[in-house]
Amino acid sequence: MLSERIRRVQPSATLEITAKAKALRAQGKKVIPFGAGEPDFSTPAHIKRALVKALEEDFIYYTPAAGIPELREAIAEKLERENGICYDSEEIVVTPGAKMALYAAIQVLVERGDEVLIPSPWWVSYPAMVELAEARAVFVPTYEEDGFRLLAEAIAEKITRRTKLLILNSPCNPTGAVLGREDVRAIAEVCQDHGIFVLSDEIYEYMVYDGAEHVSIASLEGMKERVVTVNGFSKAYSMTGWRIGYAAGPREVIKAMTRLQAHSVSNVTSFVQRAAIEALRGSQEEVKRMVEAFDQRRRYMVEELRSIPRVSCVMPRGAFYAFPNFSAYDRDSFRLANYLLDKAGVATVPGAAFGSEGEGYLRLSYATSMENIREGIARIKRALERYPKKFSGS
Ligand SMILES: Cc1ncc(COP(=O)(O)O)c(C=O)c1O
Repeated sequence: MLSERIRRVQPSATLEITAKAKALRAQGKKVIPFGAGEPDFSTPAHIKRALVKALEEDFIYYTPAAGIPELREAIAEKLERENGICYDSEEIVVTPGAKMALYAAIQVLVERGDEVLIPSPWWVSYPAMVELAEARAVFVPTYEEDGFRLLAEAIAEKITRRTKLLILNSPCNPTGAVLGREDVRAIAEVCQDHGIFVLSDEIYEYMVYDGAEHVSIASLEGMKERVVTVNGFSKAYSMTGWRIGYAAGPREVIKAMTRLQAHSVSNVTSFVQRAAIEALRGSQEEVKRMVEAFDQRRRYMVEELRSIPRVSCVMPRGAFYAFPNFSAYDRDSFRLANYLLDKAGVATVPGAAFGSEGEGYLRLSYATSMENIREGIARIKRALERYPKKFSGS
């Protein structure tokens, strides 16, 4: 009954463990939520008020498929001001989440049989999106020893005649790695040399720490015409359920993405678009406060993780995840994550859910309170003291 296209796409590898965590909570057990992929803050009040105002003004009808002009202008201003990329509003499309922007960009850019380079460990939806475009995902490994830095040489090694697109995700989910200016420059050079397009997912751009700088690859000389920059409101303004994001890129690509959107989702909810203008143009104080809180929790969580015998953890410089290495206890991250959930009541995401380079690791989100971090790591420590030795060598 089902198409081959959808049959090839696997359900999320973390579904089972998420369902188990939910069932434990339903039984009244306290489960520490290190699995979360969203900020634990509320959307700033001024953004909520802008949504209510738009509704009260009856701003409730269909909008242009690419988004309302004032929002596209506000996005163009933001990209120029903060990212150093000059777009006009015709080069911007507003989408239901960054996810739809990524999906649409891949749909309009790659053909059946094209190869798409994805740095590994990867965010769970990239390979599925590539699969849905009937293209082939080719993984570019990154390693703990390099702080999970994506190296231009590693990309070059994977390029073939069929390579069409490179997906970049800095700051990175799940590793927290942030590409420095020199790294971005070297990657841009490889892409220019080989005529490769770049899809740059910058959804975690505000979550950078220790003085790390977020560099948009489209801002480098000669790159704008070969990059689609994707961003959104989910993480920066704690608006995950609102479903709004955007893409900026060459006019022809944006037009094609808009066409896809017009025939599928029509447009992003009208009043949500109005509120997004307030998010971009209004006060950024709460964003700063949230990022400061993440920074404190990050340092605390990593320090605590490093105090667990035989666990190593790179200090993440971006996003809101730690990606510690638990392979001394178990190479099978699904088995370990299940054990921690069953025996310690701590929900984590197995590293293998992010590709084979993630095996032996767990992703722990610090988008949760300090108290939860303190209790969660203490529970992990206690549970690991009793961890079956037989798994450590397997
Ligand atoms: C790397 C990455 N890109 C994109 C998204 C999707 O964001 P949105 O909620 O805007 O669709 C996420 C959400 O978890 C993410 O982690």
